[in-house]
Amino acid sequence: MITASTPGRLMLAPMEGLVDVILRDLLTRMGGVDTCVTEFIRVTDTLLPNRTYYRMCPELLQGARTAAGVPVWVQLLGSDPEALARNARRAAKLGAPVIDLNFGCPAKTVNRHCGGAALLVDPERIHRIVAAVRAAVPPQIPVTAKMRLGLQDRSLMFDNASAIESAGASLLTIHARTKVEGYRPPAYWEEIARIGERVQIPLVANGEVWTLEDYDRCRQQSGCVDVMLGRGLVSQPWLALQIRARQQGLPIPEPSLALLSPWLLAFWSRCLNHLSFNFALGRSKQWLKMLCRGVPALQAELAELQRETCPMGFGQRLLQLSDSEAARQHQVDSQPSAA
Ligand SMILES: Cc1cc2nc3c(=O)[nH]c(=O)nc-3n(C[C@H](O)[C@H](O)[C@H](O)COP(=O)(O)O)c2cc1C
Repeated sequence: MITASTPGRLMLAPMEGLVDVILRDLLTRMGGVDTCVTEFIRVTDTLLPNRTYYRMCPELLQGARTAAGVPVWVQLLGSDPEALARNARRAAKLGAPVIDLNFGCPAKTVNRHCGGAALLVDPERIHRIVAAVRAAVPPQIPVTAKMRLGLQDRSLMFDNASAIESAGASLLTIHARTKVEGYRPPAYWEEIARIGERVQIPLVANGEVWTLEDYDRCRQQSGCVDVMLGRGLVSQPWLALQIRARQQGLPIPEPSLALLSPWLLAFWSRCLNHLSFNFALGRSKQWLKMLCRGVPALQAELAELQRETCPMGFGQRLLQLSDSEAARQHQVDSQPSAA
């Protein structure tokens, strides 16, 4: 019986165009995350140059860990077993601690080239891909996979999971929806439990975990102790910390602007270091939008920032917000206590 205090790993989901080196750094420093996975690296029929791996996973230059010390797995997406195998060998050589294979991406361009979720109609090909990658990388480097329940329906979910297992993968993350179901709630966590009755490798449950309650229901219904958090964690960056604190019987941190504003500032400054002004603004507003969804209570306070269209103005407002929050917090802390 899985309860709220049953320990389990928390993985930060790969999210192309969203969870890059900047957000991985931030979210792992905020705490509670055990593992990250890169955005997918698309493999066609060539061996990608080293610089592609370093661009998608700069952490390879620091032991494949974020600054907080959290390991970063490298995810490959493609449909050609040989090309994937060669690229996996290269990624492993550059220091990837784990090679993860993507069988879930719903993007049209990717699916048109038989990559991502499109492969879910062909368990034999999935088997060939995993087997080729497994054979290509050193035995000490685990090969893992991430799949959806299916393309149009769930009729091949057992076959796909078994194909992945029998080809030598050591862990399987399941996003509990088909491709057609996209990202619409609900996620069918109970289907993961059915798959778990057919395979022996550890399964990681994924999809639609936004709150502590979702996390509990997801683990109970899926039978998985390990959970991968996607949009829920980006929208509520302290969710992993809350889950962890509760498992350890510690006080659960409450979301507040005081807690958030230094991180917003850190994110903005990391964006400025890596990107042009306009991209930095776009990335910051993308995260702000998700934060407003995750914590509606902060929506009013973040609204002005969201309206800002000039990068300079955005930076100034962010600094003001952070300073006034720090001053307010200082005032609260220096009030004599009633006792
Ligand atoms: C913007 C975006 C980009 C994504 N990119 C990837 C990716 O590169 N690789 C992958 O395996 N899944 C990708 N996913 C799927 C997520 O990893 C995850 O399976 C999905 O969001 C469901 O989890 P959630 O409901 O917790 O967000 C992406 C999802 C989103 C929303």
